[in-house]
Amino acid sequence: MPKHISRLIWLLLGVLVLALIAPRILTVDSFYRFGHYRANSVIEIAAQEPAYQTATYCLTCHAKRVAQWSANSHKSVTCEVCHGAAEGHPDNGKLPIPKDTVKLCTLCHEAMPGRPHTQPQIVLAQHNPYTASGQQCAACHNPHSPKIAAGLIKVKGNAAIGKQRAEDCAACHGENGISPNNTWPNLAGQNAAYLARILAAYKSGDQEDVAMTPLAKELNEADIQNLAAYYGGSSCKAAAPGKPVGDAALGRALAKNCSGCHGETGITGNQAWPSLAAQKPGYLMNALKAFRSGLRKDPTMAGVSRGLSDADISNLAAYYAVQACPPAIQGRKTP
Ligand code: HEC
Ligand code: HEC
Ligand code: HEC
Ligand code: HEC
Ligand code: HEC
Ligand code: HEC
Repeated sequence: MPKHISRLIWLLLGVLVLALIAPRILTVDSFYRFGHYRANSVIEIAAQEPAYQTATYCLTCHAKRVAQWSANSHKSVTCEVCHGAAEGHPDNGKLPIPKDTVKLCTLCHEAMPGRPHTQPQIVLAQHNPYTASGQQCAACHNPHSPKIAAGLIKVKGNAAIGKQRAEDCAACHGENGISPNNTWPNLAGQNAAYLARILAAYKSGDQEDVAMTPLAKELNEADIQNLAAYYGGSSCKAAAPGKPVGDAALGRALAKNCSGCHGETGITGNQAWPSLAAQKPGYLMNALKAFRSGLRKDPTMAGVSRGLSDADISNLAAYYAVQACPPAIQGRKTP
């Protein structure tokens, strides 16, 4: 055999032997279990604590918040989407509370073509006069319960019959719906749809008050309609402003956060919501403190009132108490 041929055969044999031995020496054990690209990472990954914990984890310590969230429209948006991964919380500190809700909420809610309609969309510039100038979405929407109930109850009651039924109420709410003291609310001129809704809430137990709950339980559907029609149509001209303890000028500045729903001067554009103008300041203060503490349950007002100090509440009450009461609205008749 020519020399160069045998050299070539030896060389090929050498390469073959190397090719058979090299993998045994060079390959890590994990190759045969997981493939070359992951090596031991599976074990490493499996040993890691999950960064995201899901809402079940939050339940143990933030039960109230989880209950509110899971009963409302954002239950498909988990807590950590907005608050960040809960790994290490609470041991390593609080989770961040998103400050810029315009930025956060528009991520999912700003109208754009192709965005699924199950995710309701708004055009920022049109949504309300204040968002465009930077008002936070959380000023009106509770992020854990974002729906703002604008549902309107039709009031078709008979005001004259309501006036008779209202004799039972006169001791506390006054002959004509103008309350005799500072802490009981005026009813005259209040939106009839709101009155019907809130009376139904006292009756069902959704709202509670030592004085009102037993009385409302005695009312039937027709009574509620008639009373709402009567008080809603009564004039509130005679309402005296009561004696506010706060500073109305300071209250005016704070009221900018409320005007989207309660109107600039406390006269709301939505019949299902209460007007605040010329309401008794003591009552306004009690109502705001009740919302803040959760005694009075309304998801919208809970979010709005949470950050108010006692002084803010007095000032807001003083501001609304001295505003002119709602003018008679079309279609309202004084019986
Ligand atoms: C083991 C109990 C515990 C669990 C579980 C827990 N938290 Fe907390 N969380 C706390 C405590 C304690 C604080 C601090 C409260 C304080 O100092 O006001 C806190 C604070 C927060 C804050 C800041 C509140 C503030 O007022 O600054 C947020 C937001 C928060 N948690 C969200 C979550 C979310 C979301 C989850 C679930 C993924 C969760 N937490 C799970 C105990 C817990
Ligand atoms: C859509 C975003 C979003 C989701 C989802 C969300 N949060 Fe929040 N959360 C916020 C924002 C915004 C605030 C600040 C509220 C404000 O300024 O009125 C907040 C405030 C809080 C606070 C502090 C408020 C307080 O009362 O001191 C806690 C605690 C909290 N969230 C827990 C939770 C938990 C628990 C969940 C899940 C069950 C959750 N959040 C889901 C956006 C969200
Ligand atoms: C990760 C995406 C996401 C973020 C962030 C988010 N949302 Fe939503 N939101 C949704 C989805 C999805 C729905 C519809 C849920 C459903 O109807 O099942 C919704 C529903 C709503 C609704 C309609 C409620 C109803 O029942 O009509 C409002 C209002 C709302 N969100 C406001 C907000 C506000 C305010 C913020 C910021 C604090 C926010 N959202 C942040 C995804 C998001
Ligand atoms: C001044 C109060 C106010 C502010 C601030 C506000 N909203 Fe609203 N928003 C409302 C009211 C009131 C409704 C309910 C309208 C209705 O049901 O007719 C609503 C409804 C919505 C809806 C539901 C729309 C639908 O088609 O069902 C979404 C989504 C929403 N808002 C998102 C936002 C986001 C995001 C921001 C912040 C950029 C924001 N809102 C700021 C008052 C406000
Ligand atoms: C014993 C005194 C008393 C009597 C009688 C009474 N109320 Fe009231 N009413 C109150 C008090 C106090 C409140 C405020 C409760 C609160 O702070 O939640 C109230 C609240 C209300 C509200 C809610 C007002 C608002 O702005 O939210 C309505 C509506 C109402 N009463 C209607 C009636 C009607 C109708 C009758 C007669 C059937 C009646 N009340 C009889 C004491 C009384
Ligand atoms: C997003 C809309 C919205 C905003 C913003 C808002 N409110 Fe309200 N407010 C409501 C609704 C809805 C009710 C009725 C709640 C109920 O049915 O118990 C209410 C009720 C009230 C009541 C009780 C009135 C009564 O007759 O019982 C007071 C007081 C009040 N709001 C004050 C304020 C103040 C002060 C602000 C601003 C710091 C504010 N609200 C911002 C929607 C809003």
